[in-house]
Amino acid sequence: MYRDPVQSLEAPLLPSSATAMRPLRVGMIGIGTVGTGTFRVLARNQALIAGRAGRGIKLVVVCARSLARAMGVVGTDVALTNDPMQVATHPDVDVLVEAAGGTGPARDWVMAAIRAGKHVVTANKALLAEHGNEIFAAARQHGVAVAYEGAVAVSIPIVKALREGLTANRIEWVAGIINGTTNFILSKMRDEGVGFAEALAQAQALGYAEADPTFDIEGIDAAHKISLLAANAFGMPVRFADAQVEGITALQGLDVACAEQLGYRIKLLGVAKRRKDGDTEGVELRVQPALVPATHLLAHVNGSMNGIMVKGDASGVTMYYGAGAGSEQTASAVIADLVDVARLDGTHAAQRVPHLGFHPHAVDEQLAVLPRAAVHTRHYLRVPVHSAQQIEAVGAWLAAQQVPVLQVALAHDKTLPPGSGPQVLVLTDAVAQSTVDLAVHALASHPTVAGPVAALRVEMLEG
Ligand SMILES: NC(=O)c1ccc[n+]([C@@H]2O[C@H](COP(=O)([O-])OP(=O)(O)OC[C@H]3O[C@@H](n4cnc5c(N)ncnc54)[C@H](OP(=O)(O)O)[C@@H]3O)[C@@H](O)[C@H]2O)c1
Repeated sequence: MYRDPVQSLEAPLLPSSATAMRPLRVGMIGIGTVGTGTFRVLARNQALIAGRAGRGIKLVVVCARSLARAMGVVGTDVALTNDPMQVATHPDVDVLVEAAGGTGPARDWVMAAIRAGKHVVTANKALLAEHGNEIFAAARQHGVAVAYEGAVAVSIPIVKALREGLTANRIEWVAGIINGTTNFILSKMRDEGVGFAEALAQAQALGYAEADPTFDIEGIDAAHKISLLAANAFGMPVRFADAQVEGITALQGLDVACAEQLGYRIKLLGVAKRRKDGDTEGVELRVQPALVPATHLLAHVNGSMNGIMVKGDASGVTMYYGAGAGSEQTASAVIADLVDVARLDGTHAAQRVPHLGFHPHAVDEQLAVLPRAAVHTRHYLRVPVHSAQQIEAVGAWLAAQQVPVLQVALAHDKTLPPGSGPQVLVLTDAVAQSTVDLAVHALASHPTVAGPVAALRVEMLEG
């Protein structure tokens, strides 16, 4: 029987036609931090990127509000315009890089590009958290890709890890520190004993926080990202609108110090956890400042760095660490997406990695976000009391309210700021949020209590 000779393993990696392929032509809207980084890294690593992509990647047109400033970055070889729609629908553009930000006009540009048959790369998490379901559906309909690694954890390829590296797994949870600004602030509060306002001012002075830091400090940015991660982890639509979001603006330095005394650190965590126990089935999707044991890996993600952990049923716990912001750090993700587009351009959509990691028929539209009351975690309570003798009364009263108390302690004198009254610190076992809310509400009017009770979740993640 005749068989064709086995092809030599030494055969060139690229078919000769591929080496002759024309470059992928990029149009970019916005040339600020991310756009500039993308241009610079593309220019600097041009040859190796082409070697990996199988073809060149060439910026052909840029939309900017100040053309003079844009020319200062990209020189005279790239066409410039003030009109974003011109870039989105430009006949010489294969892929739109949306690097302007915002959700209103950006949605219109991205939708126009998709309808014009262009692939889209964006680092705009707000856009995808709010309009991702509509954008991905339109992209499927028009056979184009929308890639967004830069929208989640920038230099950490977590979208790729979830969609490709961990594709065999039933993901149980994804959790992590996914906002560098708040992590910088929390690290300052712990290391230097300063309050939230002073730590925020330092973050702004050093360029880690925007002049308007609302999205970061209120947890909204982290909620955008955890919503995208949950969709990829569990095969559900992007459900940002249902996420429970709590920032760090109300966090007191006293609780950072008390957590430290108990052996914990406070981190702003994004958590997406699949739950099926008893009658409860759904996904916890939440962002909140939470205590993590000081020995846990996430407790050691400090400054502006990000750290994400994923628990898969086969892989076990894996962890990813890196910069969550920055010009070239984001460019690293944007260009990785451009390389993917360069490789997949021309293939049938069914052969590509789906936008949310699952093919549309396998996305579970019914998988819902669990209400806040059903969230089930350990808790930390700090109860200001009139006298240290009341420590036992607080513990006993909480136990009587069905709060499973694990530990009761008094804050040490060296933990407390000068002039502070005694504080009873309580750690509970896992309990429904509804039980804790009721107990905290009732405790507020208890005669032993001398001021507002602080309550935070304690996250006991494996790993
Ligand atoms: N910076 C990061 O580290 C980072 C990390 C991950 C994701 N991202 C995301 O990446 C996107 C861009 O962020 P960035 O930090 O690069 O913001 P940026 O530095 O403010 O840059 C945005 C640029 O877009 C321009 N622009 C806005 N609207 C425009 C319009 N209608 N026409 C033309 N140009 C317009 C702005 O021009 P003007 O200067 O004239 O306003 C600015 O130059 C955002 O979605 C952000 O969330 C950023």
